[in-house]
Amino acid sequence: MTEKDFIPSNPKVLIATGKVAYKSPSNIALVKYWGKREGQIPANPSISFTLSACATTTKIQFKKLDGPSPGFAFDFLFEGSPKPSFRPKIETFFKRISSYCPFLKEYHFTIETSNSFPHSSGIASSASGMSALALCLMEIERMLYPGMDDDFFIKKASFLARLGSGSACRSLEGPLVTWGVHEEILDSTDLYGIPYKEEVHPIFKNYHDTILLVDKGQKQVSSTVGHDLVKGHPFAEQRFQQAHRNLGRLKPILKSGSLEEFIQVVESEALTLHAIMMTGDPYFVLMKPNTLEIINRIWAFREESGSHVCFTLDAGANVHVLYPETEKEKVNQFIVNELVAYCENQQYICDRIGQGAVKLN
Ligand code: DP6
Repeated sequence: MTEKDFIPSNPKVLIATGKVAYKSPSNIALVKYWGKREGQIPANPSISFTLSACATTTKIQFKKLDGPSPGFAFDFLFEGSPKPSFRPKIETFFKRISSYCPFLKEYHFTIETSNSFPHSSGIASSASGMSALALCLMEIERMLYPGMDDDFFIKKASFLARLGSGSACRSLEGPLVTWGVHEEILDSTDLYGIPYKEEVHPIFKNYHDTILLVDKGQKQVSSTVGHDLVKGHPFAEQRFQQAHRNLGRLKPILKSGSLEEFIQVVESEALTLHAIMMTGDPYFVLMKPNTLEIINRIWAFREESGSHVCFTLDAGANVHVLYPETEKEKVNQFIVNELVAYCENQQYICDRIGQGAVKLN
């Protein structure tokens, strides 16, 4: 498939008005996407667990305009109130996708969105937000072009989500999604995320992710700045090769359920992402002292208890604590006893691996 396959060519049905809604989750990368090329093409392939509790719900009401609008006609409500600061993001997104969704200029949209997690939690909402929005737009497109098959629907929705935010293309389905061409992953593509189809050991089917909110403030470094920093980074090429290797290493690990090896890949990926930021020009430290405290506590706990708890990080100070269902009680106790003290206002979110977005009525 190429980008061109996503440009509609067949005639569309006339629909005056309607509404659609989706709930879409966030995801947490095991092998990280960090660095991209022109057009939201990832510099390396990535893989993520789809989450469940952290999600965005988006509803769109649409109404045909009398004539095509020069710009995009929409109202945007976040958690019930207008949110002008979000409008530019949506404008940019609509501009990027308008050649693939020409109907965007023919309708007025009222977009209402809300998150299941607190806005100022330091949790990036772009993955859940952009995937929910892309799915709603595809649902409208499906009404305009009846007979669209499910496979095309989900691929184009992920393709559009990617143009909103790269990691968003991995949020539509679950429980594991890869994005980006990888020599050992059949059908892998830079254009959209695909569910991971290889054999997965049952231990990974119920994995937990408790998100420790170490710093609830605005992200210190935006993804845009972060991805930009990888361009011309002295270690960029080695990093991209390493991501390919790590994804290749994960394949037999996901099959065998070897948690020791899983931990090595996942923690190394998290630390590498941060190392790239620390060694860039300009350079950034995204961890806070409490991030490191938590990491050290996790390592000490693993050593003394034989647990398989491990961590991963996004491009920020919060820590995602990953562990299997079989260790739930033990690890939860450890989190409450030892880790929560390092969270801002003792706040954390209990999430787990999920199955992807759902359509709402
Ligand atoms: C660190 O998807 O937020 O979470 O494409 O510019 O929107 P844009 O970037 P974004 O990057 C997220 C990167 C990451 C790692 C990952 O999810 O793979």
